[in-house]
Amino acid sequence: MSKIEQLKHSNATASDKQSGTKVLRLTTSILGEASVSTSLIDGLVERLSAVVGALDVVERNFGKTPIPHFDGEWLTAIMTPEADRSDAQQRKAAFSKELITELQNADVVVIALPMYNFSVPSMLKAWNDHVARAGETFKYTDKGSVGLLNDKKVFLVTAMGGQHEPGKTDFLRPYMRHFLGFLGLKDITFITASGLSMGDEPRAAGLASAEAEIDAAIEQLKRDAHNSSNKAQEAAA
Ligand SMILES: Cc1cc2nc3c(=O)[nH]c(=O)nc-3n(C[C@H](O)[C@H](O)[C@H](O)COP(=O)(O)O)c2cc1C
Repeated sequence: MSKIEQLKHSNATASDKQSGTKVLRLTTSILGEASVSTSLIDGLVERLSAVVGALDVVERNFGKTPIPHFDGEWLTAIMTPEADRSDAQQRKAAFSKELITELQNADVVVIALPMYNFSVPSMLKAWNDHVARAGETFKYTDKGSVGLLNDKKVFLVTAMGGQHEPGKTDFLRPYMRHFLGFLGLKDITFITASGLSMGDEPRAAGLASAEAEIDAAIEQLKRDAHNSSNKAQEAAA
């Protein structure tokens, strides 16, 4: 069974096991149709379906429809026991819960992330703030925090104008690796298009490199699927 199939199997409830692989698709660019990260994940998702079959895609476009940042009222709402919440508090808490449920239900998470000012778009940071919830996506223990999400496959597609080394001038990739790992998501494939604002040649090289990374990711998925189907046949023999 491939990683995605395993995840699908472990996430699925008895009633929805027949449905397609559940993909949570997050885009964040403010450039609309001209966005490189969006167009790269479009290609990636299309090719993903060729490997794993039907997809059930839940989509959030934070570039087009930003989500609210959290605030004091939100904190009070989520700290108030559900039965005691006012209507306004119910609404505040329900929105975060909706985002958390979308993430919990996904087999695969695909995120398109432009680099803005050396890090993630603030809209994605807002999503992170909504979905990081003790008791839902992580918990505290006497040995530190533990992620509660089962290890879904994550594809993180970044686009950046310059060329940046993670941890030096790129705070986006190290931050997202740490944040997703904190929730239990450690199986992350990074796809990066860099040098997009540096002129024709660096841009073309950055795009080609990202496409090559997508090719490699898809080939890996095919190998995983092939190996798992061989194992299933051996087990059945
Ligand atoms: C507001 C803004 C801030 C940006 N900040 C950076 C940056 O810090 N470093 C960088 O290399 N490129 C930066 N860029 C360039 C974008 O990362 C680049 O245009 C990338 O293609 C955006 O992704 P997209 O095409 O998916 O929208 C910035 C662009 C914008 C609009």
